[in-house]
Amino acid sequence: MADLMWWQKAVFYQIYPRSFADGNGDGIGDIPGIVNSLDYVQDLGIDALWLSPHYPSPQFDVGYDVADYTGVDPEYGALEDFKRFLDGAHQRGIRVILDLVLNHTSDRHPWFVESRSSRDNPKRDWYVWHAGKNGTHPNNWYSTFGGPAWERDSRTAEYYYHYFFKEQPDLNWRNAGMKKAMWQAVRYWLDLGVDGYRLDAIGTIFEDPGLPDHSVPETLIELGLAAYHAGSEAERKALAEEYKVLFKYQHDLPEVHDLMRELRALVDEYDEPLRVLVGETDEIAFYGNGHDELHMNFNFPLMRTERLSPAWIRANQKERLLALPPGAWPCNTLGNHDSPRVRSRYGDGNASHDGALARLSLALMLTLWGTPFLYNGEEIGMTDILFDDVGIFRDNLGVWFYNAAVNELKVLPAEAVRLAAKFGRDKCRTPMQWANAPNAGFSPEGARTWLPVNPNYAQGVNVAEQRDDPGLCGRRTPMGGAQARRLCPHAVVVRPRMDAYSKASKALFEVFDFDAAAEGSGIPALLRRLGELGIGFKDLDTRQSSLEEIFVSLVSERG
Ligand code: GLC
Ligand code: CA
Repeated sequence: MADLMWWQKAVFYQIYPRSFADGNGDGIGDIPGIVNSLDYVQDLGIDALWLSPHYPSPQFDVGYDVADYTGVDPEYGALEDFKRFLDGAHQRGIRVILDLVLNHTSDRHPWFVESRSSRDNPKRDWYVWHAGKNGTHPNNWYSTFGGPAWERDSRTAEYYYHYFFKEQPDLNWRNAGMKKAMWQAVRYWLDLGVDGYRLDAIGTIFEDPGLPDHSVPETLIELGLAAYHAGSEAERKALAEEYKVLFKYQHDLPEVHDLMRELRALVDEYDEPLRVLVGETDEIAFYGNGHDELHMNFNFPLMRTERLSPAWIRANQKERLLALPPGAWPCNTLGNHDSPRVRSRYGDGNASHDGALARLSLALMLTLWGTPFLYNGEEIGMTDILFDDVGIFRDNLGVWFYNAAVNELKVLPAEAVRLAAKFGRDKCRTPMQWANAPNAGFSPEGARTWLPVNPNYAQGVNVAEQRDDPGLCGRRTPMGGAQARRLCPHAVVVRPRMDAYSKASKALFEVFDFDAAAEGSGIPALLRRLGELGIGFKDLDTRQSSLEEIFVSLVSERG
């Protein structure tokens, strides 16, 4: 499979800059910290980084509220630091993709400041403004982060639309001037040598200009709570359907595909290397015809379970692989900055099982057909931490949930904190645990980290100890190279927890015995091996066969 693109062979690793490494000791992760950690990333065997937003931002949504698309947040460093980071990564053969937030800006972005200043400002139409109806909001749409999707601006007595927080006004993609300005920003980083983008929340870029009311009787928070308490997969599915109806006029409008084709054409102007686009969406439609929209879209449905059983994985793979248009390439992940930590989510609370399950999840990521995305800290088995004080929360989604639970649903504060900590996203965003040292070695002793560190850094959940302890994590690197081969023995521990141990999972485990030569040479070697194994697929239509057949053929091909 020599003709695979770089991004098809790569293991991607998401860096959440605020929490990865604190270079200047102020308690906040930054780009110099990332530069200092590049050897670690290389050691892990990572081929490409996805950097969550590093742009200037009031940080209301921790960077996903961008105030300048061509800058670097001073808390994270300067443009020179960014260039050092990009060079340092490239020198190590590691590519870098950035986060591109197209749906909205920060309300402090100069574009919005101008837009809101008067009804006839030239940038008025860069955002979505409407008059109220009957003395209230233009319609009954929600913001996905709670409350109405409309905010009245007293200066001009009109409402602006926001799918996320009111601090994140939606851009109007039907405005050609705005689009031109955004495409310039996109080119700015590509010209600097950035290797592509992860596209934030693309499904929400357009909304129905007729502003029809949705027809769902329940409130958003009622649906959210019902989903939270849902006991079965079927219940969850039904609620997800209702959620879709609730946001029907605000999501996945056909126009967005024209826009993605336009962006793809822009990105395709760059080569050596070719640049890549990865969509934060699970809609297969964003692959377009397989070549004209996004290169990859996340297989999020794989994550939507409490237990990663072989039956679940097989069903997911079958559905997903069959649905892809010809030439489209899958992309798998189990965790990111919005979701529970893999170890917490798929574990069962039993420390010995959870470690094994975490390793097996990683094994799964590295063997499934397609490109894997790992989230920083996953490789050392970091876990969620649920803060029991809203004063500590930094994710405003958690804060909103707490207030809504207490004020609207009359939940007792102690219970509301518990629910909000689970619902919010701080739990998976705590600082990277580098060592069994004060502040987990993320910041110097005495510094106050932006979110508290998870105390389990002192129980072996840290890079330094896993690196030095061959018994726990392999000779060379946490979860890398040698470690990847050591996943097999752990699988024995896990097997009884699998609901239907099958040929497919057996084959999955055997993959790690494929070739002793892979030992010590890191994840990419392992992945390349699997890529080579793909040659074995030539007589098998991977999109027509069951995963079981694919694995079986994969194993017999080694023969
Ligand atoms: C995406 C991001 C999330 C953010 C939201 C709004 O879902 O992953 O963190 O809050 O978009 O930008
Ligand atoms: Ca810092």
